[in-house]
Amino acid sequence: MQPSGAVLFMLSGFVLSSLRAVVALQLRYPPNRIAVVGAGIGGTSAAYFLREKFGKDVHIDVYEKEEVGGRLATIEMEGKVYEAGGSVIHPLNLHMKTFVKELGLNARTPSGDLLGIYNGDYFVFQESEWSIINLIKMLWNYGLNFLRMHMWVEDILDRFMRIYRYQTFDYSFSTTEALLHAMGGSDFIGKLNMTIDEALQKSGFSQRFIDDIVVPAMRVNYCQGVHINGFVGAVSLAGTSSGLWAVEGGNNLICKGLLYASNAKLIQGTVTSVQEKVRPTKSGNTARRYEVTYASDKGPGSDMYDIVVIATPLNKEIGNIDFPGFNPPIQAFSRPYQQTVATFVHGRVNSSFFGFPNTSPFPLAAVLTTDSHKLFFRSISSLSPATSGSEFGASKTSDLRTWKIFSPEVLRDEELHQLFVSYSAVNVKKWLAYPKYNPPEKMPPIILHRGIYYLNSIEWAASAMEMSAISAKNVALLSYHQWYEKEDQIDQEDLVERLKSEL
Ligand SMILES: Cc1cc2nc3c(=O)[nH]c(=O)nc-3n(C[C@H](O)[C@H](O)[C@H](O)COP(=O)(O)OP(=O)(O)OC[C@H]3O[C@@H](n4cnc5c(N)ncnc54)[C@H](O)[C@@H]3O)c2cc1C
Ligand SMILES: *[C@@H]1O[C@H](CO)[C@@H](O)[C@H](O)[C@H]1NC(C)=O
Ligand SMILES: *[C@@H]1O[C@H](CO)[C@@H](O)[C@H](O)[C@H]1NC(C)=O
Repeated sequence: MQPSGAVLFMLSGFVLSSLRAVVALQLRYPPNRIAVVGAGIGGTSAAYFLREKFGKDVHIDVYEKEEVGGRLATIEMEGKVYEAGGSVIHPLNLHMKTFVKELGLNARTPSGDLLGIYNGDYFVFQESEWSIINLIKMLWNYGLNFLRMHMWVEDILDRFMRIYRYQTFDYSFSTTEALLHAMGGSDFIGKLNMTIDEALQKSGFSQRFIDDIVVPAMRVNYCQGVHINGFVGAVSLAGTSSGLWAVEGGNNLICKGLLYASNAKLIQGTVTSVQEKVRPTKSGNTARRYEVTYASDKGPGSDMYDIVVIATPLNKEIGNIDFPGFNPPIQAFSRPYQQTVATFVHGRVNSSFFGFPNTSPFPLAAVLTTDSHKLFFRSISSLSPATSGSEFGASKTSDLRTWKIFSPEVLRDEELHQLFVSYSAVNVKKWLAYPKYNPPEKMPPIILHRGIYYLNSIEWAASAMEMSAISAKNVALLSYHQWYEKEDQIDQEDLVERLKSEL
């Protein structure tokens, strides 16, 4: 008994190690086929980075059930085109900046128009044409809170920017928590566990400043109040800085450009399931691949892939993809998304609704709102077309303009009649726009299975174009390092210190 057991043991050890060698050897071959599900900014930048990483020979399919661009989309009103979804980009969003440059696109800067903050009864804050008056108003009402907010955001941005350096040096992270931790340590992770309200209170901001200035910023950017997590709250505050820009012609041109540049094949269809298939190969080994099943106008179809990147929220109402047969099971992430309705109206704003004399033309270009039960909308702002040049300044002098209203529910006719004295065209776009944030926040996994990656995990930290692009680059690097077993490029600690020496 004893000896044969040992022999068996040795034998099985031998078999195992040689098996491992075979597997390792097999994995060192490049993958043949990669699937990306979703052609928003996440999916198209993933295709682009995957091509960059895996080289020209791998076949990449991108599945899209609706339009390339996803939540980056434009609408047409009275012959002009406007951003209908994700609209502004921060000047320090380096991936977006690089895309524009490499794809030969141009940036445009939407005009910085006069802004007011309305509480349902009166304006708690109203910008004037004179910047010195604005400054005095800010100091008078809020002391140094504006300056302090600027510094607070700056400090977070400083640490946020580290991700570009890590990615330049090919480092990747296997969870969204690890990625955030590498940028800003436990302070960043901690922000997922508290509301932006708590985070700012802790840093000594005044309640009045939070109610009058921070709440409206959260409402316009995420259609939610200051109970959203501290990290997305900080991203939202960064969205109040100057120098915000957009892509000339429409932000979704980036998605179209990336898709083209990636040389991936677009498959117009709805992915319904992803399954693992194990089958023997000619050489007597087993090959494990993923079968992607989809529905399209031409009927159902399916294809096999080595790597699958899910670049859409996986909620039932959005992605709705099944993962049958996995053990442990791949959960559907049924946490809710926030509905935001964007209503586009060509008309004249009702000045008396906002307490101005009803004879005067409406003096503001954007109205944000505080948390008031009286208000049925979150914000209203006058738009400049996605293609500049087309009577840019002319619309400023006329009070007949195109406005965008954000609200959680579709506006009723009576509500539009209150907001506008007259209007000629209405266009409604209903979005499941971003997660309903509710800290403490646990991030969904990035690695759903050995070769299945979930790009939109990052949205639960913060949803923004650049966040999707950062996650896309991370997933491209992570899948590459996992494929070629380069563990030393995954989840490394102390990168700040380590990269100091590498210039
Ligand atoms: C109204 C609004 C305003 C915003 N404002 C800003 C802003 O100013 N700045 C900013 O940075 N961000 C903003 N955002 C957020 C930003 O738009 C998103 O974070 C970003 O566009 C998400 O990109 P994504 O590629 O990850 O997801 P998506 O754009 O949602 O892409 C997912 C794609 O997958 C497709 N798809 C889904 N399921 C399937 C399936 N089963 N099979 C095939 N295809 C599928 C969808 O059709 C979609 O095209 C805003 C969002 C909204 C809605
Ligand atoms: C955040 O909260 C979760 C529980 O929701 C907990 O497991 C985690 O340790 C907390 N993290 C920090 C940094 O406080
Ligand atoms: C404008 O607003 C005022 C005040 O809320 C309201 O009485 C009026 O009905 C609104 N509509 C028009 C068309 O003036």
